Amino acid sequence: MTTQAENDILTQTGPGTPLGELARHYWHPALKSEELVADGDPVRFMLMSEKLIAFRDSSGRIGVMDHRCPHRCASLFFGRNEENGIRCVYHGWKFDVEGNCLDMANVPPHQDFKQKVKAKAYKAEERNGVVWVYMGSQENVPGLPEIEATLCPEEDVEILFIVRECNWLQGAEGELDTSHLGVLHMGKVGADVYTKDSINQYVVSNRAPEYMFTETDFGTQYAAYRPADEGNTYWRLGPYLWPFWTMPPICPLDNNILARAYVPIDDENTMMVYWMHNKAELPGKTDRRKEVVGGGDWNFLPNTTDWNGRWRLSDNKKNDYNIDREVQRTKSYSGITGINLQDQAMSESMGEIVDRTVERLAPSDIMITQTRKHIIRAVQAYQKDGTLPKSATDPSVYRDVRGGQFVAPDGEEWLDAYSTRLDAAAVKPPLPEAAE
Ligand code: FES
Ligand SMILES: [Fe+2]
Repeated sequence: MTTQAENDILTQTGPGTPLGELARHYWHPALKSEELVADGDPVRFMLMSEKLIAFRDSSGRIGVMDHRCPHRCASLFFGRNEENGIRCVYHGWKFDVEGNCLDMANVPPHQDFKQKVKAKAYKAEERNGVVWVYMGSQENVPGLPEIEATLCPEEDVEILFIVRECNWLQGAEGELDTSHLGVLHMGKVGADVYTKDSINQYVVSNRAPEYMFTETDFGTQYAAYRPADEGNTYWRLGPYLWPFWTMPPICPLDNNILARAYVPIDDENTMMVYWMHNKAELPGKTDRRKEVVGGGDWNFLPNTTDWNGRWRLSDNKKNDYNIDREVQRTKSYSGITGINLQDQAMSESMGEIVDRTVERLAPSDIMITQTRKHIIRAVQAYQKDGTLPKSATDPSVYRDVRGGQFVAPDGEEWLDAYSTRLDAAAVKPPLPEAAE
């Protein structure tokens, strides 16, 4: 059972919280590059409960800083983004992307002390269409994580930002909970939907898999298994990667080049950042399957300048995700259109921060229970003597990691089967910067 104290550790990521302090040793995807235009409007946003602004200066550099002006705390969101800096409109103090004060418009030159003033700024880097932010100590900043999908050229991947109105762990645990696939998403799908060569047929002919689990340098990994055809086993593997990442096995391992980060906005809201390579074709995709699972495109509300106003869906908890009870009775298991929206609904329906003390976990939740323990142990080690997980200092631990599905002969050891197939994967996107 997860205690209230453990739930607090797992779900709180604001400044000064145990997991929040540890997570500040990692880079986080925060914005799409396209959201920031040189000398354009500053963007107001939150990361791990800190209220920030981002802007792109005249030279194209990105500034991410505390929204409060160091003078008297007026919000720099209202600032003028001009001539390589942001100028507070209250008294005209101006800051560059590193937070250096360049000018104090309301102070006579002989009383000027701009060298002594610094806005709280965080390092930001751009890679393949995404802006990443590092909120820890600005000395000794590690490299960006070498996560395969995030290293692919922008034109080879679909990148989505989607707000989920609940704590980050509810989103991430949905990805670690593979047995819901055969129920929530495919509860109405019969084996007849799939052709004999589609490996998804094994999900619908046995909806109750068993599990393997292991801990690694990047986090944890599970393998759910069930019988395939005679003499073979069907495997679905999915990792959790520090601090907020998953790679659900939605495609065969061969081309499952995807990653999802559940980045805390605050403790009750999360930005899911989603990469999917255009070679990551869903297996057994048929019109009939689409009909019973529910297709579902993302429909976004217009972005606003609220703290949590970006990338919100129009089907959301306020309209019960537009559930169609007639469709639920007759066609799809949930009546909610689309796999991703079904996931969104289930994790948000638990409440903003689920009370994990009242859960009744089952053997099918082994990845969830073990990953919670893994995170708590790492947080406790960090609190004790500052020990960091290897992933905090070595971005290469994320290399050569995928989730995915495959069929292997009965008796083949799962981790051997996984690494052999990963080595032989047909689709290997280039690893540009990190490979140098
Ligand atoms: S509050 Fe920003 S310059 Fe005074
Ligand atoms: Fe799901």
